[in-house]
Amino acid sequence: MEIQLRVRRYDPESDPAPHWDEFRVEAEPSDRVLDLLHQVKWYQDGTLTFRRSCGHGVCGSDAMLINGRNRLACEYLVKDAGSRVTVEPVRGMRVIKDLLVDMDGFWDKYRSVMPFLVNDEVPTDGLERRQSPEERDRFEDTSKCIMCGACTTGCPSFWSNPDYVGPAAIVNAHRFIFDSRDTAAEERLEIMADADGVWRCRTIFNCVEACPRGINVTRAIMEVTREVSGTGHG
Ligand code: SF4
Ligand code: F3S
Ligand code: FES
Repeated sequence: MEIQLRVRRYDPESDPAPHWDEFRVEAEPSDRVLDLLHQVKWYQDGTLTFRRSCGHGVCGSDAMLINGRNRLACEYLVKDAGSRVTVEPVRGMRVIKDLLVDMDGFWDKYRSVMPFLVNDEVPTDGLERRQSPEERDRFEDTSKCIMCGACTTGCPSFWSNPDYVGPAAIVNAHRFIFDSRDTAAEERLEIMADADGVWRCRTIFNCVEACPRGINVTRAIMEVTREVSGTGHG
């Protein structure tokens, strides 16, 4: 089938403003939108710029706005996208070129929540930190995050306040706050209690719709918010 692909292009070094380019691409219904972008990049216009790595929904590098919704280009199939496909960069981030956005601020916020296990105590048996299946289940959902940023860049509260730590960082704080082996929950809750922390969430739910991993992002935010309130950090 022939696909009409519209891509929002912008090179800040040479373009006065963003514009749309249109391409015609032959594709199979089972192809992904990433395949369409590859077709353009390899055979029609080598200057088209976008990020991708694994091509299989694991690395989280190709989140973009496809037909008006945040999705991973490597997961969204042509048969679902239809014969007219529109691709734009995610919102709320500075465009470096075309679909490539500056993720530095996003990673700063991710790092700010200490997304790693903190525990300096020696395990009781001297060998390993044990955890029951129930304790592990407590953060199962948020452990699935691939840091694609689709939630944060789909959040209107983040668009209006770029300092908001954002749902992706909160999901990763949740991942460790509720890990029974971790000892730094208090520090993370302090960060979450900040003016630009969990209180910026207005329960708009775009983040849940955007998440390619099916994580219940809003529930995770509410659970962290409850902890923040319960421990007097709010
Ligand atoms: Fe992506 Fe979902 Fe993680 Fe947000 S919570 S960064 S949408 S995987
Ligand atoms: Fe934004 Fe999700 Fe909250 S879209 S306002 S983080 S529920
Ligand atoms: Fe890795 Fe799409 S290219 S998630």
